Amino acid sequence: RSVRAFAPASVGNIGVGFDLLGHAIDGPRDVARVTRIEEPVVRIDAIRGDVAGVDRLPLDAPSNTAGRALMSLREALDLPFGFAVALEKGIPLGSGLGGSAASCVAALVAANALLDTPLAREALYDFALDGESVSSGSRHGDNVAPMLLGGVAMATSERMLALAAPDWLHAVVVHPDQVLETRRSRAALAEPYPLHTVVEHTAHLAQFLLGLQHGDADLIRAGLHDVLVEPRRAPLIPGFAQVKQAALGHDALGASISGGGPSVFAWFASRAAAETAAPAMRAGFVDAGFEARAYVTPV
Ligand code: HSE
Repeated sequence: RSVRAFAPASVGNIGVGFDLLGHAIDGPRDVARVTRIEEPVVRIDAIRGDVAGVDRLPLDAPSNTAGRALMSLREALDLPFGFAVALEKGIPLGSGLGGSAASCVAALVAANALLDTPLAREALYDFALDGESVSSGSRHGDNVAPMLLGGVAMATSERMLALAAPDWLHAVVVHPDQVLETRRSRAALAEPYPLHTVVEHTAHLAQFLLGLQHGDADLIRAGLHDVLVEPRRAPLIPGFAQVKQAALGHDALGASISGGGPSVFAWFASRAAAETAAPAMRAGFVDAGFEARAYVTPV
């Protein structure tokens, strides 16, 4: 028996929630077809897809995000059977759109449907973190949680929570034709942070979360301003400043780096505002010499 499942791309961090917040995108997605097999192993049979670098992804299950996640699921449940996995990558590698997380979430959702007694979505979170850590070297859930729950999610090391968001909220996500490996963009964050920067950051995060909860655009605007991570990563992304400027010039509530970059996102108080800003944001990358694609999505 086989099951096919997809996971959407996502915006990790949402600027002020480093390793903590993320939201799903209506745009690119990864698909996994998982087959229940008698042999008690996890096997990656194929990885296809129309994205650059797909041939570099490991077929060796423990080194593959989907493979590692299903191995954790098998071990935790002591399953007497195994899984064979075929992946179709739709999310570009090294894009900051959560591609490694999406493969493991899609595989987990499909494998879960093949269990005699499927688990609740929440119970898949830990296995997804195991998968995510294979590619990035860290157990952060800001991409896997919104993929499992939809919408905006908060991801701590223990649990994931769905967060309410106002229905007028829309995002533009622009993906340039550049690759930035998560490990490299995390290495840029290693130096210490002065306490006053941490306090400023906490104030932004608090306002952002209250703004989301109350559907208050002014509070979201006050909060969506990353003073902690963005300044250290922005120099790794040619064109970032122009794209952010274009978003803010088109009345964005805020704009920052999607996940580890190089994609850039901005939030808007209506779909119309997002659609107006999208070509201008895309042009920021094009003017810097890169091909780019823009997605407009509800948050
Ligand atoms: N929270 C992660 C980061 C997302 O910013 O490094 C990338 O996987």
